[in-house]
Amino acid sequence: MVTGAGRGIGRGIALAFAQQGAAVAVADIDSQSAKLVAGEIEAVTAVASAHELDVANHEAASRCVAEVEAIHGGIDSLIHCAAVNKLTPFLEMPAEDWRRIIEINLTGTFFVAQAAARHMVKRERGRIVLIASNTGFRGAIDRAAYAASKAAVINLAQTMAIELAGLGITVNAIAPGPTDTPMTAWQPAEIRRALCADVPMNRYGRIEEIAAGAIFLASDQASYVTGHTLAIDGGFAGAGIIHRSAAT
Ligand SMILES: NC(=O)c1ccc[n+]([C@@H]2O[C@H](COP(=O)([O-])OP(=O)(O)OC[C@H]3O[C@@H](n4cnc5c(N)ncnc54)[C@H](O)[C@@H]3O)[C@@H](O)[C@H]2O)c1
Repeated sequence: MVTGAGRGIGRGIALAFAQQGAAVAVADIDSQSAKLVAGEIEAVTAVASAHELDVANHEAASRCVAEVEAIHGGIDSLIHCAAVNKLTPFLEMPAEDWRRIIEINLTGTFFVAQAAARHMVKRERGRIVLIASNTGFRGAIDRAAYAASKAAVINLAQTMAIELAGLGITVNAIAPGPTDTPMTAWQPAEIRRALCADVPMNRYGRIEEIAAGAIFLASDQASYVTGHTLAIDGGFAGAGIIHRSAAT
């Protein structure tokens, strides 16, 4: 089951799982794009279903997980990608923007992950991968709500990992750096250049590079990995404060 799978990283992850032969439940608030992606998957190899889901709606999250379980006979892995961002300076951020971003990015993550975990507990196995962000590790200008939500998602993955470790479920996060998706498509060249200045590899990530991490964390290869946040960010998280431009 992949949330936020109607486009961007979620769509790429859904397609990557399909290429591995998985049946994929494609969930998104935009039902039209969920249907299109499910159609793309059916055309590739595997079985797919499309689900309209607003992750910030508690009942809808439980209902959607139950629906996926009924159609597919179980959920092996949940990859939770749904999130929103809106750039606003901290001093100007309206309360409603703060609430909406936290509601979707953090509370929505809790709703979907809890519903999926309750289902996985019954089968005594499951993999949960939460898509966080490099902004969850460090401050990020104009992204007070977004960065705070992503820091909380990283912590949620750790806490869930502890509580679910004895129940056959692993929980990990992925922290992508700037990645080429519809979410970042608005950024003009000067913003891209400025963001790349903090990335040792000096480029944006590709959707397939994020998807590869999700496939690994959901696989048997990652059987002893839980509570981990995998940075897929061209070195951003490990980089120091002295930029390339200061090199001798
Ligand atoms: N693109 C980046 O540079 C970048 C960097 C770090 C982290 N991320 C994270 O990766 C994930 C995917 O990002 P993306 O760039 O593909 O974004 P995107 O905006 O291209 O896609 C997000 C998808 O989530 C869906 N969505 C939004 N609100 C929803 C809701 N309430 N319920 C269900 N679905 C909802 C959208 O309809 C869309 O299909 C997000 O968690 C994002 O925060 C992205």
